[in-house]
Amino acid sequence: MPSPSLSTRDLTIRFGGHVAVNTVTCDFHPGETTVIVGPNGAGKTTYFNLISGQLTASAGKVEKSGEDITRLSPSSRARRGIGRAFQLTNLFPQLSVLENIRLAVQARAGAGWGLLRPAPSRRDLIDSAEHYLAAAQLTNRAAMPAASLPHGDQRKLEVALLMAMEPDIYMFDEPTAGMSLDQAPAVLELIAKIKSDPTKTVLLVEHKMDVVRALADRIIVLHNGELLADGAPGEVMDSKIVRDVYLGTATEETA
Ligand SMILES: Nc1ncnc2c1ncn2[C@@H]1O[C@H](COP(=O)(O)OP(=O)(O)OP(=O)(O)O)[C@@H](O)[C@H]1O
Ligand SMILES: [Mg+2]
Repeated sequence: MPSPSLSTRDLTIRFGGHVAVNTVTCDFHPGETTVIVGPNGAGKTTYFNLISGQLTASAGKVEKSGEDITRLSPSSRARRGIGRAFQLTNLFPQLSVLENIRLAVQARAGAGWGLLRPAPSRRDLIDSAEHYLAAAQLTNRAAMPAASLPHGDQRKLEVALLMAMEPDIYMFDEPTAGMSLDQAPAVLELIAKIKSDPTKTVLLVEHKMDVVRALADRIIVLHNGELLADGAPGEVMDSKIVRDVYLGTATEETA
């Protein structure tokens, strides 16, 4: 097992008297897709917010490749390779799809500029942007203003922008929520592509059991802010404790 790309140690956040994430200790590794499941209000999104920096822990630690990032801002964490998909952030609605991706590539390249490395040429930036455009199957939308994309394609663009940032850690919180049945597969295919890269660590919060089955190498279960189970998908989904607390509510959540 390679050393963890991301770890949380006794990670905890309290909102007043409510402990939304409670001493969660977990390691994540390159080449591994971990799906985080648990009933509504279990603390999944809050756990993500603590990792990406939207929230700061009350106690415990977040480590990226061994470095303590617990007190860093979301942008500092992003520069260290923590990539979180958000709907429609960093999007320039009037610019074309390709321009939006090019700007993301440029931001990433800019962050990596050093004395020894020349700035990339405009051509390099465009080549790179076209690569992510194709990876997201958006080539035929390249010239469209981002704002005029159909909803499903906007979600693909969000993933393309995230890919252009070349994070080591990809975090998706219910990536197909609100998508129609015919739109979801394209986004799931993109996640599957990211997952096939052995250098990437993928964290995915997901309620839909078919998505969990398709993508999970490992499942962790949160319940009342605590890490209740952690293991191979079959093993976790078959365990009694998980059936009791999670699958009892899963039927309505997958509807
Ligand atoms: N900023 C906040 N202030 C106060 N309470 C919060 C805050 N954010 C989350 N909570 C509470 O923390 C708990 C966990 O919420 P969270 O959104 O993490 O759950 P979740 O597992 O993502 O649920 P869902 O499956 O519905 O998305 C809930 O009780 C929620 O009300
Ligand atoms: Mg949530």
